[in-house]
Amino acid sequence: MEKFLRIAGAILLLLAVTAWQTPSSLAGTWQGEQTFNRGTQPTTLASTWVFAVNGDHFTGLTVSTRDRREITGGSVDGNQIRFGARNPFVPASTPQLYTGTLDGGALTLTPVRPPTPPGAARGRGRGPFPPLVLHKVSEDTVYHLPPALAHPPLPPLRPLSPNGLALTPPMGWNSWNKFHGSVNDRDVRSTADLMVSTGMRDAGYVYVNIDDTWEGTRDAQGNIQPNSKFPDMKALADYVHSKDLKLGIYSSPGPRTCAGYEGSYLHEEQDARTYAAWGIDYLKYDWCSASLVYGPGEMAQAYEKMALALRATGRPIVFSLCQYGWLDVGSWGAEVGGNLWRTTGDISDRYASMAANGFSQNGRESAAGPDHWNDPDMLEIGNGGMTDTEYQTHLSLWAILAAPLLAGNDLSAMTPDIRDILTNREVIAVDQDKLGRQGFRVSKDGDLEIWKRPLAGGAVAVGLFNRGPAAASMSVRWSDLGIKNNPKIRDLWAHRNLQAPGSYSAQVSSHGVVLLRVK
Ligand code: GLA
Repeated sequence: MEKFLRIAGAILLLLAVTAWQTPSSLAGTWQGEQTFNRGTQPTTLASTWVFAVNGDHFTGLTVSTRDRREITGGSVDGNQIRFGARNPFVPASTPQLYTGTLDGGALTLTPVRPPTPPGAARGRGRGPFPPLVLHKVSEDTVYHLPPALAHPPLPPLRPLSPNGLALTPPMGWNSWNKFHGSVNDRDVRSTADLMVSTGMRDAGYVYVNIDDTWEGTRDAQGNIQPNSKFPDMKALADYVHSKDLKLGIYSSPGPRTCAGYEGSYLHEEQDARTYAAWGIDYLKYDWCSASLVYGPGEMAQAYEKMALALRATGRPIVFSLCQYGWLDVGSWGAEVGGNLWRTTGDISDRYASMAANGFSQNGRESAAGPDHWNDPDMLEIGNGGMTDTEYQTHLSLWAILAAPLLAGNDLSAMTPDIRDILTNREVIAVDQDKLGRQGFRVSKDGDLEIWKRPLAGGAVAVGLFNRGPAAASMSVRWSDLGIKNNPKIRDLWAHRNLQAPGSYSAQVSSHGVVLLRVK
């Protein structure tokens, strides 16, 4: 009995001490690392978390090489904590919720996956969010912001005139979706060869774009050097140009790129000159860690700074803004010199992700036009996670949206069916239509959506999309689309003309599309 009482007493004391200690022991600065598998090369993301505790509640801040978030609504219950982390660049979004457990010197945080609405496909498809283990680096209980990184004054915002480099949406290939961090000089050369031999180039795909992870360190003069995967960038550009193709590259306005490599922060003009000297034709400029330097009110200026630096080189370089659609980029992207700007988070090779990125674009059409395009992210066609039917939908939807077409597959493993999808010239002609008007949804009946895109010369592209799990019959009356009866109709996947004087009906397979050109 005495032994039992002693043990029970010890347990009670321990619980009391834990409950009493938890809030104040949370206060201070914590750090941790998380490794994500991005293709063949894992990427490690280090983050710092500062918590300021007041009774059972706390606030704080977290900063990583990727972003900076405010901690809101923190509550403590014993050794369990709960809070939200809000991105100041996304005012409308609800904060990412976390739960955490304090155990000795470690704080384990688990992001709470948002509940899946009934009937919807499961989340973003990257598996369960991994927990993050943090360790305390300072006992500092005073809440303080890590000092913002200094930056020289940004150029005052003034509308830039169009550069004329993207009168139709850019077409090409980009290394990220398939190669991630493993891309190297050999892959880019062989992709250039294959762009020619597979007919991709002649179908219009001319840019060969190296995404993140090419960057090395800076030399004594501050010039950016490629890392060992890219021994000679100028020679690579010469090779790509010798195939009548163009070479693209990637950087960030922040100190680090999203994969943690060297960004262009404090070196914008110098980097632009380096790219021009190498013979670069396209720059994707990815926000990533720029949130550590700039506030939401400075994003447009940070982009314009690089646009001006590129223009000052005298070399024509397409400028691609990558900031995930934050801060209504369509309303300022063109004026800061952007030829295209991302309007979504990263795509993945699954129907739910592709459909979320594509179908959500309805309503953005007024922002797009010749030389400045909405970009719902690069293509996943041929990467293996969708059916050929779904890949046809992917290309059709991007064509209706006047979206940039940047293939993201391994061309050395491309099947004839995938090549036929990517190089369907009738669908590409819709994407590249000279009028440059982005399409929009005209009707929605549950999973069945009809979209239209006005084309040059009075023609119209019409997409009958079935987002549902079973084949369905779909109909469209020409008068409802403002088209006169007895139009000329072409089915762009079947490659045949159709007769349908007043209306048209078709069986559309699950996740499939019927894409028509009607005049
Ligand atoms: C971000 C971009 C991607 C890709 C990666 C590279 O996630 O949105 O398209 O460029 O960075 O790190």
